[in-house]
Amino acid sequence: MDEKKVMLSGIQPSGDLHLGNYLGPLRHWPEMIEEFDCYFFMADLHTITVRQDPAQLRRRVLTQVAQYIACGLDPEKCTIFIQSHVPAHAQLGWVLDCYTMFGELSRMTQFKDKAAKHKDNINAGLFTYPALMAADILLYQPDFVPVGDDQRQHVEICRDIAERFNGIYGEVFKVPQPHIAKVGARIMSLNDPQSKMSKSNPEGCVFLMERPEDILRKFKRAVTDSDTQRCVRYDPETKPGVSNLVQIYAAATGKSFEAIEAEFEGKGYGAFKPAVGEAVVETLRPIREETERLLADKGYLEGVYRTGAERAERVANRTLRKVYKKIGFVPR
Ligand code: TRP
Repeated sequence: MDEKKVMLSGIQPSGDLHLGNYLGPLRHWPEMIEEFDCYFFMADLHTITVRQDPAQLRRRVLTQVAQYIACGLDPEKCTIFIQSHVPAHAQLGWVLDCYTMFGELSRMTQFKDKAAKHKDNINAGLFTYPALMAADILLYQPDFVPVGDDQRQHVEICRDIAERFNGIYGEVFKVPQPHIAKVGARIMSLNDPQSKMSKSNPEGCVFLMERPEDILRKFKRAVTDSDTQRCVRYDPETKPGVSNLVQIYAAATGKSFEAIEAEFEGKGYGAFKPAVGEAVVETLRPIREETERLLADKGYLEGVYRTGAERAERVANRTLRKVYKKIGFVPR
């Protein structure tokens, strides 16, 4: 058997997937599954560090599984699973809690941010989240974990925890590379081009399942820039709004920035904004339709996540058994 390198990524089903997720990392995953042995999981255990509505959570997890497949992740070629289906995550998570220091968790910027945002629910899970994430990663002995900037600190603490554990018990964990992939385009909010596109600002955000007329409306209202020339030009410093649209249009159509500037030479924003909207609608249409089709086929989806959980579990349990043995737990 050829030894492919292992890659793993978890995504929290805490919001609906949007254009920023798609044009950023998601669009590049189908290429990765050809090259690497890939694990993708819905990090549902992580989402409950913030209060979730049960029906919403269930719907989002299933929708996300369907969307991954619709975006081109062939479940025959990679492992797609739901985190809570593989108990080893919670089990190793507990173990790693005991090898993670209060001080280092206190320094995590995501904890500080989320604690500030959810003052009424600063729970222990929110605090120990990085140890669970380290368990997610280390169970599969991945070579790298492609994450965005916001998760870099979490991969670093995972490396620290792995090295600490290995220092005591020998080489149990493979220490993953902090692979901060060039994850494709960084898409900004349509109504606030200084901030990343985010579900928390829905008017500036285009969701993958959104109706075409809503998408078009959001693009028509997109913030452009107040320079006098009103020309379509990629220049993120002085024209952040238009540059964001140029970037989206480029990603949706495959055209270069120069070609786009030439195409809209002398036409102004009035022609450009609806054109970007249309291009996005056409890019998302097949994904939305395929997602809807898959969601209607419950049996197939169930098959995918069950098979995924079985495959994931075999690998995860092997690591967990090794850890338990090293620690000195009596085998059952
Ligand atoms: N913490 C990640 C996020 O919020 C999600 C996540 C959980 C994850 N476990 C992971 C990502 C393991 C990569 C590897 O986006």
